[in-house]
Amino acid sequence: MIESTLHHSVLNAELLSFLDIKKDGVYLDATYGRGGHSALVLSRISKSGKLLAFDRDREAVTDALIKFGEDGRFTINHAKFSRISELLSEFRNKIDGIYFDLGLSSPQLDNAERGFSFQKSGFIDMRMDQSSDGGSAFDWVNSAKEYEIRDVLSKFGEQRYAKSIAKKIVSSRALKTIDTTHELAQIVRSCIKYRAKIDPATLTFQAIRIFINDELNELNLALNSAAELIGLGGKILVISFHSLEDRIVKHRFRYLAANGLSRSGSECSYRIITKKPIVPSDLEKSENARSRSAKLRVIERTQ
Ligand SMILES: C[S@@+](CC[C@H](N)C(=O)[O-])C[C@H]1O[C@@H](n2cnc3c(N)ncnc32)[C@H](O)[C@@H]1O
Repeated sequence: MIESTLHHSVLNAELLSFLDIKKDGVYLDATYGRGGHSALVLSRISKSGKLLAFDRDREAVTDALIKFGEDGRFTINHAKFSRISELLSEFRNKIDGIYFDLGLSSPQLDNAERGFSFQKSGFIDMRMDQSSDGGSAFDWVNSAKEYEIRDVLSKFGEQRYAKSIAKKIVSSRALKTIDTTHELAQIVRSCIKYRAKIDPATLTFQAIRIFINDELNELNLALNSAAELIGLGGKILVISFHSLEDRIVKHRFRYLAANGLSRSGSECSYRIITKKPIVPSDLEKSENARSRSAKLRVIERTQ
């Protein structure tokens, strides 16, 4: 079982097989992370190929510059993937493959100071981009109205106990600010009376993280942009890790396949390649626990 803080990319063989890389092709890695997928693509393109990468996390960008900064085929943008269309307008119609590997990298999860995980105690930050103006989870947890907390927990965590957790957060912070991930996790657990298979804090942390990073909105915007950028015969691949993300991808792909897209006067068509999402093999799941919930969906531009 893999447990280190190195990031182990998921569904590598499947991603490569669907991308069907052309040696001189142009590819977009919308979620660089620690560059596992980027390295695979770079090893398959020639000198005239290109890999454009994005990540909103400064640490990921630093990693990219260290690993591939000298490689003339590679560029990294420190930006949200909702901006791919705006920042890559010169590549419109010229990209052969765009892929998203959503969520967090292992280094983000494992660094207690990032506040994404309650396994270790740390400041409740949860911002993927710590240089952004957006507020941290600490600010929000300690100031949001009770009904806002309840709504976020039920909408983004599908959390049955959203109401009682929101109430407990508000009464706890009236006594003392909620500073750490351990404190927050303890408050959540105290509201749930049954013995659950997964730690009850999991869904609450997921919900707050999605809200703080506006993750679902990002995904919606980025899928539209990807459909605008992709060239004829090119594919868009999305690896998601929970049902809220997968639902968005499924519906957006169905919409594109049914309605196409009108792009600067010309009509584009798309075809769904994966009728059902592709999931990791049993071997991959047993070797990499993070891969267990991964789902890959693929669509192709046909006209
Ligand atoms: C699961 S990791 C990607 C791992 C990568 N495929 C690899 O093989 O190393 C997800 C990465 O996407 C980034 N990310 C998530 N949402 C993003 C967004 N809206 N815009 C840009 N980057 C995002 C995260 O910061 C994280 O580094």
